[in-house]
Amino acid sequence: MIGDLLPSGVAWSERFDDEVAEALYPSEEQVIAKAVPKRRREFTTGRWCARQALHQLGVPPAPILPGERGAPGWPQGIAGSITHCEGYRAAVVAHLDAYASVGVDAEPNEPLPPGVLDAISLPEERAQLSAFAWDRLLFSAKESIYKAWFPLARRWLDFTEARVELREDGTFSAKLLVDGPVSGFEGRWLADTGLLLTAVTVPANGLR
Ligand SMILES: CC(C)(COP(=O)(O)OP(=O)(O)OC[C@H]1O[C@@H](n2cnc3c(N)ncnc32)[C@H](O)[C@@H]1OP(=O)(O)O)[C@@H](O)C(=O)NCCC(=O)NCCS
Repeated sequence: MIGDLLPSGVAWSERFDDEVAEALYPSEEQVIAKAVPKRRREFTTGRWCARQALHQLGVPPAPILPGERGAPGWPQGIAGSITHCEGYRAAVVAHLDAYASVGVDAEPNEPLPPGVLDAISLPEERAQLSAFAWDRLLFSAKESIYKAWFPLARRWLDFTEARVELREDGTFSAKLLVDGPVSGFEGRWLADTGLLLTAVTVPANGLR
């Protein structure tokens, strides 16, 4: 599914279960040692997906440790992103000389809990919500944006610091309302089988 949202040159792997024979590296074991089983499963399958995707780029398997603010630490020369939600895990990776950053997000295709929309959106974004553009989709687009933003900017981006325009054709754009290494993002979305997926890619020549 996630492959439908990605341009050529971006490798991906996804799973709808945790039936993977994945041995974590000792350094990864250490960071997940005290986690509850659900967190352990998503972390482990996320790493499995990441290593599958890296293999497609010819990158040998390596530990992928959570770094600053939880951002995954990719091998030298690689941009990547991991997502997981109930029933779905995925990782996408690309060579940095082709893509400066990537961000992906998966969500259950269900309405946001009451009150969340106001906290994660601008008034003009709420105004565009309609039959094809609903609250969870806006949220997911912003999560993808943050995951692509953070490795570039190395700082927080608030939900109100990017203005997202969702389009019915499965694309979206975001304008950054703060200074940073990019002025905006282009992304794609799809909704299928109870899942919502969004992806953002920043071409290597797309930085300011
Ligand atoms: C970090 C965050 C984006 C994760 O999204 P999520 O929907 O909760 O969870 P997902 O399963 O989709 O993604 C989790 C993965 O995101 C990745 N991630 C976590 N922090 C990250 C960061 N700072 N930068 C990039 N990727 C990050 C990790 O790989 C993590 O999985 P792992 O811990 O197993 O490696 C979210 O929790 C968050 O903090 N959002 C607030 C910031 C934001 O979205 N701003 C909006 C700007 S418009």
